[in-house]
Amino acid sequence: MFRVGIIGCGGISAVHAQVLSELENTELAACADLLPERAGRYGCAAYADYRKMLDAEKLDAVHLCTPHHLHPVMAAEAARRGVAVFTEKPPAIDAAGWEQVKRAAARAPVGVCFQNRYHPHVRACLGFLKENTYGPLRGIRAFVTWNRTAAYYAAADWKGKWATEGGGALINQAVHTLDLIIGFLGAPDQAEAALSNRRLRGAIQVEDTAEIYLNRGGVPALMYASNAYSQDAPVMIELHFDQAVIRLEGDLMMVIQAGKRREIPCVTDPILGRSYWGAGHKACIADFYRSVETGQRYQNDPASCEATMETLLKLYAQARR
Ligand SMILES: NC(=O)c1ccc[n+]([C@@H]2O[C@H](COP(=O)([O-])OP(=O)(O)OC[C@H]3O[C@@H](n4cnc5c(N)ncnc54)[C@H](O)[C@@H]3O)[C@@H](O)[C@H]2O)c1
Repeated sequence: MFRVGIIGCGGISAVHAQVLSELENTELAACADLLPERAGRYGCAAYADYRKMLDAEKLDAVHLCTPHHLHPVMAAEAARRGVAVFTEKPPAIDAAGWEQVKRAAARAPVGVCFQNRYHPHVRACLGFLKENTYGPLRGIRAFVTWNRTAAYYAAADWKGKWATEGGGALINQAVHTLDLIIGFLGAPDQAEAALSNRRLRGAIQVEDTAEIYLNRGGVPALMYASNAYSQDAPVMIELHFDQAVIRLEGDLMMVIQAGKRREIPCVTDPILGRSYWGAGHKACIADFYRSVETGQRYQNDPASCEATMETLLKLYAQARR
């Protein structure tokens, strides 16, 4: 049984706590949060200082559910004590932080919560690419159109700021989709972004809207990500193959071929958390503990995130310049 701690007991931590209670080989032993009522919300040993928790609790692993800028330093503190780390996305907000996460991974297992890689339809599309089922990939387009209001940003002091969130719609809401696109496309040769603040100008520092252009070997990938929509619409990703168009929208996959449209629904685990986040946390976390147990490479290890992180940081550097 793995003794696990959660650091940061806000919104997403509830999904981690639920998964840890459902898995047979994990036990939530301790939590740390600056706010005592949050640290105590899951009824286990509660700490304000996560380093004290790491020193006192003999944990096998910690889950980082804290603001973005804290992931690297917390990963380093855990790894130097030999504690495995499962970090929420993004693993870092700058190059120095990303290097720190990779150094931590040399000392202890580190996994990144890109749970949508576990979606059956995403896996199916990776299979189409590998098997050349519909011929070569010609292009990709994606939309992430969600609703993040001024009240959402006001509720957490780290959101909406360059220093702590590291960006807005792209690094926080659309980073999963960027990661999937790069999983399909490979590391791009060209990566350009235009960032803007359409709705919350003056209220937040970071972008609420990002327009992305990637290209690899002549195959373009376009993404539009905005937090300025009226609702949290299902994410849409379309892969244009030579002989078919595959459209993923929420839990639906459409295969459009020779003018005919086939709809393939997908039954995923009961949704943990909000459906538009994707329901893959359980599969992603279960696989992490399987890899820690067996010593086999974890699918979402830092090396698997290199192209995504490199592209993400490049997009921000280029667009902000
Ligand atoms: N994978 C997903 O789909 C998904 C979905 C939502 C959020 N997230 C990620 O989860 C992380 C947390 O997001 P959230 O929305 O739950 O944020 P949140 O603001 O609701 O929670 C963060 C918590 O961290 C605590 N905290 C801050 N500094 C701390 C410190 N030094 N020590 C201990 N606790 C500290 C805060 O008090 C707060 O309770 C972010 O990285 C976010 O991107 C991922």
